[in-house]
Amino acid sequence: MANIVILGTQWGDEGKGKIVDLLTPAFGAVARYQGGHNAGHTVYLNGRKVVLHVIPSGILHPGTLCLIGNGVVIDPRAFLDELEALKSVVPVGEDSIAVSRTAHLILPYHGLLERAAEAALGEKKIGTTCRGIGPAYEDKIGRRGIRAGDLCDPALLREKIFRNTAAKNEIAALWGLEPLDPEKLFAQYADYGARMAPYIKDVSRLLHETLRAGTPVLFEGAQGVLLDIDHGTYPYVTSSNPTAGGVCTGLGVGPTVIDAVLGVIKAYTTRVGSGPFPTELFDETGKLLARRGDEFGATTGRPRRCGWFDAVAAAYACRINGISRVIMTKPDVLDEFPEIKICTAYRYKGSSLRDYPVETEVLEKVVPVYETVPGWKTPVRGVREFRDLPAGFKDFLKLVEDRIGAEAAMISTGVERRETLFRDDLLAGWIDLAAVRKGIAGA
Ligand code: GDP
Ligand code: IMO
Ligand code: MG
Repeated sequence: MANIVILGTQWGDEGKGKIVDLLTPAFGAVARYQGGHNAGHTVYLNGRKVVLHVIPSGILHPGTLCLIGNGVVIDPRAFLDELEALKSVVPVGEDSIAVSRTAHLILPYHGLLERAAEAALGEKKIGTTCRGIGPAYEDKIGRRGIRAGDLCDPALLREKIFRNTAAKNEIAALWGLEPLDPEKLFAQYADYGARMAPYIKDVSRLLHETLRAGTPVLFEGAQGVLLDIDHGTYPYVTSSNPTAGGVCTGLGVGPTVIDAVLGVIKAYTTRVGSGPFPTELFDETGKLLARRGDEFGATTGRPRRCGWFDAVAAAYACRINGISRVIMTKPDVLDEFPEIKICTAYRYKGSSLRDYPVETEVLEKVVPVYETVPGWKTPVRGVREFRDLPAGFKDFLKLVEDRIGAEAAMISTGVERRETLFRDDLLAGWIDLAAVRKGIAGA
C-alpha cells in the first residue's frame, strides 16, 4: 500500500487528528514533520476525548510506530506531560515513540520572549499560541539552537544552555524582563534528558528501515496550508511548513516516497489568532457555526473565528500541495442551515479574482463572491454510506469539488471513528480500507 500525507488545507483545526487516528490501522508508522505543541488534534475514543499536541495521532493504536521528525520543535516538558497523560489511556512503550535527535528544543526563554514580543505588537499581534514555537525556529535558522540529541550529552547541554541563556538574558533586559538562571535551566533540562533518552533516536534512519520493509507510512501535518511560513498569510502564520514539502525536510525522506497527498477540508472555515479571513462572519450565522461546531481552540481554548467555506483558498491549497483527494469534515454542523454559501471568487478593486492572491495586503481587502445552495435540512450526522446522504448535501459537495478541482474521498460526519464514510474507489491502491474498517469495528 501507499505512503500518504494528511494535511490541513485551511487555517488548521480541520479535523486532521480524527482522520489520522481513524486511518492508522492501515499504516505501520505515523510521522509528524513540523510544528510543535501549538497543535491540538482531537480524537474521540468511544466517547472519551483525547487531545494530542506533539505526539502523532496514531498513538492510540498500540503497535504503531509514532515518529517525531527533525522538523518538529519539542518542549521536553510538554512532551513528557503528554506522554504521562496518554499512559492512562493506552499502553505506550519506549518502542512506540521516537523523537529525532536533530529536532530542535523549546526552552523557557522562547515562550517568555514571545509573550513580550506579542504584547509589544499590540493590535498588530500575530495571536500566537505563545508556546515558544516561533522563537525556537528562529534559533534553529539562526544556527544557535539546542537539539534533542544534546539532551543526552550533559557537558554539551550545559555549555549550550549557558551560552544561549546569557544571550537571551541580554534581550530579556531590553524588554525589562527578569533574567533566567542558566544553572537551574540546565538542571531542569538534564532531568528531562534522562527521562527522554529512551525515545531520542535517528528518526530518518528508522523511517528508511520502515519504508524498506514495505510498511506503509502516514505523514501527519499539523496546522494548515494558510498558516505555512512560505505559502500562508504571512506574517499571520506559524513558523514552519505544514505544506507537503515539509514532509521531506522535516523527516529526512525524499519526495519519491510520497504516493498521495490528502487534504482535510472543513465544510466551512475557521481561524484562531489574527490575520485576513475573507469569508469571516460577524453575524448570527457565524455564531451559529461556532456553537454547532464547538469551535474553541484545542490548545489554548480561544474561540475560533468562523465563516463560510472558501473555495478560492482551498483550490490554492490543492495546487501548492499537489493534493490528490480531499477529506471533508464537519458537514453535520451545517445540517440545520436554511442556505449555505461557498466563496468561489474574490472582488478586488472592481475586478474578479479566481486565483488566491498571495499578498496579505490584497487578501485583507478582497470581498468574497458567493454561490448559494439550499440547506439539506436532514441530518448528515453519523451517515456512513454515500447513498444515504441527502441530495442537497450531494449538490453542495459537487459544487465544492468542482470549484477546488479535487474529489472528496472521505466524509467525516461526526467526532467518532465510526462516523465516517469512504468512497472506496477514490482511495483504491492508497489505503487498506479493510484494515481501517476492522479498526473501527474493534473500537
Ligand atoms: P485538528 O487540529 O485538525 O486535528 O482539529 P481539532 O481537533 O483542533 O478540531 C476539530 C474538532 O472537530 C475536534 O473537536 C473534533 O472532535 C471535531 N470533529 C472532527 N470531525 C468532525 C465531524 O465530522 N463532525 C463534527 N461535528 N465534529 C468533528
Ligand atoms: P492544529 O494542528 C489552528 C495559529 C495560531 C496563530 C498562528 C501562529 O491543531 O491545526 P504559533 O503559536 O504557531 O506561532 O501561532 O498559528 N496556530 C493554529 N491555529 N490550529 C493549529 O494547529 C495552530 N497552530 C498554530 O493561533 O494564529
Ligand atoms: Mg487543532
